[in-house]
Amino acid sequence: MKIISVVNQKGGCGKTITAVNCAAALHKKGYRVLLVDLDPQAHATFALRKVSNVYITDILEATAENLPMPSENLLTAVRDNFYLIPSRIGLASLEHKLAARQDKLQILSSFLAKISENFDYCLIDCPPNLGILTLNALEASHYSLIPLTICDFSLHGIDILKNILIMLKEFKGSHPVPFYLLTQVDKRYNFSKDFGDKVKKQLGDLLLKSTIRTNITLREAASAGKTIFEYKADSRGAEDFTALADEVEKITAQNKWASLFLRSDKFSEVYLVGDFTNWQRDERYRLSKVGEDIWSINVPLEKGKYRYKFVAGDSWFNDPHNTLAEDDAFGGKNSLLVIE
Ligand SMILES: Nc1ncnc2c1ncn2[C@@H]1O[C@H](COP(=O)(O)OP(=O)(O)OP(=O)(O)O)[C@@H](O)[C@H]1O
Ligand SMILES: [Mg+2]
Repeated sequence: MKIISVVNQKGGCGKTITAVNCAAALHKKGYRVLLVDLDPQAHATFALRKVSNVYITDILEATAENLPMPSENLLTAVRDNFYLIPSRIGLASLEHKLAARQDKLQILSSFLAKISENFDYCLIDCPPNLGILTLNALEASHYSLIPLTICDFSLHGIDILKNILIMLKEFKGSHPVPFYLLTQVDKRYNFSKDFGDKVKKQLGDLLLKSTIRTNITLREAASAGKTIFEYKADSRGAEDFTALADEVEKITAQNKWASLFLRSDKFSEVYLVGDFTNWQRDERYRLSKVGEDIWSINVPLEKGKYRYKFVAGDSWFNDPHNTLAEDDAFGGKNSLLVIE
């Protein structure tokens, strides 16, 4: 099961619309999909309007306390092979209870590990903050999908999220591979286009090619308790989410990804060089500047062992966030990536 958290600490940037309709689009392509509503506001639960007796609160509580799970209908069926774990407001107080525990960030991942054979994809709709629930989602996820709107694109906001990803990497050696998605795009406005161009330039390959246009039908579908495919299958919203699911499928199917970061405000450009570039600078391996002092790149790689360094101007140096290294031929070290 590939786990994708839809995350951005900013409110109203399209997380819920994305989680619900991307899950529906992947299901439409024939995948077994689980949607987890991890937001006490329960918007995704509302957007699917399903009756349930078991909520994410029950599941997290039982997992944390090692209690038996509620035995019936643990997951709420939306359709055949499309399930929801709904949320409710009590999730906010559970978050406080979890805060005291040492394993507070691993509760969700240990539950999802138990059901991972049953699904191809799990999408997690996160709350608009970077509290314990979102950290649980990031800890459990292989990928994070970060919706951005014009108003959201504050470098500061992205910086905070990046810092958390770096922290996760330092703390457990890995973090979800981040991809950004432009949402609520309105091509009628020039500033929307200028903004899109700016983001593309800045984020490079970290930005998905698909975008989600502003489409009132998406809002109507959510209010009617339906996915966009149930509500209006020939809408622009349905078209955009189908394209997004195609891209998500490609990204998650092809290779493994190495997601690398570097923190520095000294450089004007940084390249990744290594076995995969024949130790040459290559435009495809230029890092994107995703925050005031944060550089980032996602590299698709086959299974194997790779040596690499970063190059900025004349300096060649190791990845400071990777403790795996091996001696190089010049008395220094190369950073190592092992893709399994
Ligand atoms: N592409 C779109 N076209 C039209 N309306 C949209 C689109 N995307 C989102 N919206 C509307 O914008 C509002 C915010 O979207 P959404 O609830 O998905 O954001 P969110 O990031 O989950 O918010 P929160 O942070 O509160 O959880 C909703 O009313 C939603 O219906
Ligand atoms: Mg939401």
